[in-house]
Amino acid sequence: MKFKERVFSGMQPTGSLHLGNYLGAMLQWIELQKTHECIYCVVDMHAITVWQDPDELKSAIRQVTAAYIASGLDPKRSILFNQSEVAAHAELAWIFNCVARLGWLNRMTQFKEKAGKDRENASVGLYVYPNLMAADILAYRATHVPVGDDQKQHLELSRDIAQKFNNDFKQWIEKAGYVDGNFFPLPEPVITGPATRVMSLRDGTKKMSKSDPSDLSRINLTDDADTIAKKIQKAKTDPEPLPSELKGLDGRPEAENLVGIYAALAGRSKAKVLEEFGGAQFSAFKKALAELCVEKLGPIAAETKRLMADPAEIDRVLASGSERARVIAGPIIAEVKDVVGFVRS
Ligand code: AMP
Ligand code: TRP
Repeated sequence: MKFKERVFSGMQPTGSLHLGNYLGAMLQWIELQKTHECIYCVVDMHAITVWQDPDELKSAIRQVTAAYIASGLDPKRSILFNQSEVAAHAELAWIFNCVARLGWLNRMTQFKEKAGKDRENASVGLYVYPNLMAADILAYRATHVPVGDDQKQHLELSRDIAQKFNNDFKQWIEKAGYVDGNFFPLPEPVITGPATRVMSLRDGTKKMSKSDPSDLSRINLTDDADTIAKKIQKAKTDPEPLPSELKGLDGRPEAENLVGIYAALAGRSKAKVLEEFGGAQFSAFKKALAELCVEKLGPIAAETKRLMADPAEIDRVLASGSERARVIAGPIIAEVKDVVGFVRS
């Protein structure tokens, strides 16, 4: 069976979104919205796999929703909602907990990074997080998942879970009328653009992340013009001028990162950026980069702030998105229950 093309992705409401989220994921989300049916989720259930202050969590859910809209996601066209409001996610995640194997989860590098040394003290939720992610996607039979590079392994796991479910329940899936046993699609990662992995401004070998203790390491979508300029000015670089060709960036992670950021924001390739700035000193390039960042991110910060002044309106967007999400996921989860052998009353 050929599945209808459908896009699903999500971000965690933990702290404010940053340039890595925007360039690695959101720009693709905005693009896909023009051609596809898209479902964009604020994954609050993923957020609580590590401790969240309840008041801050509520505010972060609205803040991320506001940032989605301010960045260009259209709540009329795409479905914007928060995960915990659609029960299908939790229901399907439980079933996937029983499909995925311990050995598969043991290979997840993000769990190892996030759990750190004190693994015994990590929540069980953090460990089974990738099963919930598979449920997010497959509850809608989504076929395409635009994400940053760091989510590649989780998406491979989602495909393995879909495949195993299709095999384990083949007989019942066919009884339900699916001739070829294809109950779930194998979702494809969409990892594209010049900045699928934006690095820290303080260390070109580390990913830009919300959890980095240094705020100078990232540009937040809420930073004002002065803060953006200061962070870029302080960004780590090397003493050489910029090269004029791509291969000149080899072994220069900080230079490569800043050029990638410029390219992604300007909608150009890295090669084109180097054609313009090859031979320039970092001081000049940083000035141009700061201006571009302020030009692109300034309006998003202003619009997010404007939207946050009316939280009731944000809640209305989420309520309507959740309603539309339930309409899609409801019949799918009902079929899953039949296939698995549950009695529905
Ligand atoms: P998270 O903030 O972990 O919920 O991530 C939300 C989305 O942003 C996911 O698709 C990530 O892959 C993407 N993302 C997060 N950090 C980066 C980064 N430094 N570079 C590129 N993409 C990123
Ligand atoms: N795990 C993703 C991250 O940390 C967020 C996420 C949760 C997600 N569910 C998803 C992304 C489903 C894509 C599809 O970035």
